[in-house]
Amino acid sequence: PNYEYIIVSEPRPGVGQITLNRPKALNALCTPLITELNSALRQFQSSPTVSAILLTGSERAFAAGADIKEMAPLTFAEAYTNSFIESWSDLTTALKKPLIAAVSGHALGGGCELALMADVLYCTAKANFGQPEIKLGTIPGAGGSQRLTRAVGKAKAMELILTGKSFSGEEAEKWGVAARTFESYDELIEAALKTAETIAGYSKVAVQAAKEVVNKSQDLPLRDGVEYERRVFHALFGSQDQKVGMKAFAEKKKAEWTHS
Ligand code: HXC
Repeated sequence: PNYEYIIVSEPRPGVGQITLNRPKALNALCTPLITELNSALRQFQSSPTVSAILLTGSERAFAAGADIKEMAPLTFAEAYTNSFIESWSDLTTALKKPLIAAVSGHALGGGCELALMADVLYCTAKANFGQPEIKLGTIPGAGGSQRLTRAVGKAKAMELILTGKSFSGEEAEKWGVAARTFESYDELIEAALKTAETIAGYSKVAVQAAKEVVNKSQDLPLRDGVEYERRVFHALFGSQDQKVGMKAFAEKKKAEWTHS
């Protein structure tokens, strides 16, 4: 399909890339953009040639938030009855393949929340994260108060969300929001592509299971989470690729995954 607000490509074997492309508004996440994003993600989810997905923006902006001009006139009844923003969660519920976000420039409000939904977050050291909704007379609405708090702890999250103050990519890494930081945009994209390619080189069955169990840690108490992990671990003895992987190790050969 032809998209207006995103660019979709398959830059490396097994890797699907979505680049947010609404430069005039610093990739502000208007509803049509989110619809396109969800459609591209669904396409990658069902594509046999894509095993890992890279989501990025431009060097200047990952995304400067939800579209303030679209939101300004909304009434409570409109937001409520249309479940405004709910479809953003498709990203976390419908997507079983790993999502790597590469953040450069602004990742504010909904842009920060979108980045927080990714499975792996890479950014530039100078990236500009924040939840500035308080300055607009509102609050985070796409999970920021929950995911940022889980990532950085209550003390920092409360300060960030109540003051609306930004934090840098460097801080994001130090606080555990980002897995790694890079000095330049080019290094960021190259590293994110490499990581996506690495993941895409493993068994799809094991990768999906690994993502699933790590994400469970965010929802379940420890004892239940450990038990959930063990159940899935046991289940993988029923996969072909567990046999393939362990046999290849014993024979000092490269595993030829069957993805079954
Ligand atoms: C709509 C936006 C926008 C946004 C930027 N633009 N952010 N339009 N919604 N969130 C537009 C500007 O209006 C401007 O359009 C163009 O993008 C360039 O922006 P400038 O402000 O001129 O650029 P600059 O001076 O470099 O400043 C960059 C900036 C600033 C610091 C990122 O744009 C900014 O503060 N943006 C808003 C950030 C924000 O508050 N985000 C949270 C939104 S609330 P024109 O037409 O004037 O050229 C939110 C709620 C989430 O996300 C809850 C549910 C998801």
